[in-house]
Amino acid sequence: MADRKRIVVGVAGGIAAYKACTLVRQLSEAGHSVRVVPTESALKFVGAATFEALSGNPVHTGVFEDVSEVPHVRFGQQADLVVVAPATADLMARAVAGRGDDLLTATLLTARCPVLFAPAMHTEMWLHPATVENVATLRRRGVVVLDPASGRLTGADSGPGRLPEAEEITTFAQLLLERGDALPHDLAGVKVVVTAGGTREAIDPVRFIGNRSSGKQGYAVARVMAQRGAEVTLIAGNTAGLADPAGVDVVHISSAAQLRDSVFKYVPDAQVLVMAAAVADFRPTEVATSKIKKKHGPGEAEAAPVIELTRTDDILAGAVRARTDGQLPNLRAIVGFAAETGDANGDVLFHARAKLQRKGCDLLVVNAVGDGRAFEVDVNDGWLLAADGTESALEHGSKTLMGSRIADAIGAFLRGNDE
Ligand code: CTP
Repeated sequence: MADRKRIVVGVAGGIAAYKACTLVRQLSEAGHSVRVVPTESALKFVGAATFEALSGNPVHTGVFEDVSEVPHVRFGQQADLVVVAPATADLMARAVAGRGDDLLTATLLTARCPVLFAPAMHTEMWLHPATVENVATLRRRGVVVLDPASGRLTGADSGPGRLPEAEEITTFAQLLLERGDALPHDLAGVKVVVTAGGTREAIDPVRFIGNRSSGKQGYAVARVMAQRGAEVTLIAGNTAGLADPAGVDVVHISSAAQLRDSVFKYVPDAQVLVMAAAVADFRPTEVATSKIKKKHGPGEAEAAPVIELTRTDDILAGAVRARTDGQLPNLRAIVGFAAETGDANGDVLFHARAKLQRKGCDLLVVNAVGDGRAFEVDVNDGWLLAADGTESALEHGSKTLMGSRIADAIGAFLRGNDE
């Protein structure tokens, strides 16, 4: 497999070590070569045999095993990615101090590839000033430290400290491999509203007019911005059954009118609005209160019902207008999305430039659609157009990669306006 990468999965000693098994399996199934390096105490929770079976590689914990192969230097040097899950308070403290007293910390000292930590611990430990400072130090050094999830911990207590789900960690692992560089923690304190998915406009109680948006691109933007430190509210329409991203407040809506009401409820506090949702441009003027029935049996002539449509409000244009009128003083970046096919009048970029002008947003993410591109698939590419005339290509890759590039652009836009 061309993109088979070498991944070291470090496992520290916490009850969440059992979840590392799913992570190792997912990364192996994705075709990567996975080497599990548990700490001594991790092996009190999960046996080495389990990690060996799941990774297909031998498992060592100390620096004095297989010394002739110098694994304490080799694993780190050769890795394309190191993931530590769970990362305990103790492991992070040792990493910050630059200790190398077991194979995992020695590997962290020699690794020059992206490093991802997925912390898990009790809430008190996560909130302790020592841990807070250690996390800040690791992030400053370029380590990607995911925020732990909130919820039930071991025992009866609950709060932030749960290991993020394996899918979430795998998504970020794949993202770092694709990016080849770290994900900056550059959006701390920035409030962001992201819309995603498609709207549904009711015809009657059982039917609607919808669209093929899966929500994947908007969810990816929300997920990545949250892990860069932003406070994200995701207003989610109908999606392909996507799970709520970790660390994001999710508001579920269905119609264009509900989406509009939600956006204008949350956007006054926000600095960034990302309109990735596929909003219906038209809705049925009247919604039948009971199911529309056929009047005749099969084979009998019957005029098809005619559904009259009414334009919905353009939410993006409405936000631009409200900001121009001074009603949204906090809102510094408005990002629109455009799905274009190109036609006899012009190509994709021709239509996108016109849309940027027409909508008046600060940034426009452009996708070429048609021929099975963009909708319902996991990969994407496109362009990013800015109101100042700058245009850049968004490289082909996963929607998470594209989400991270969009987040890069938003971060740069906010910093550019600070100067
Ligand atoms: N949008 C919106 N409110 C609507 C429709 C669209 O806020 N009622 C936003 C979308 O979220 C997206 C952008 O506008 O960010 C898409 O622009 P739009 O002109 O609606 O795209 P199309 O529907 O493709 O328009 P056209 O048919 O003019 O190409």
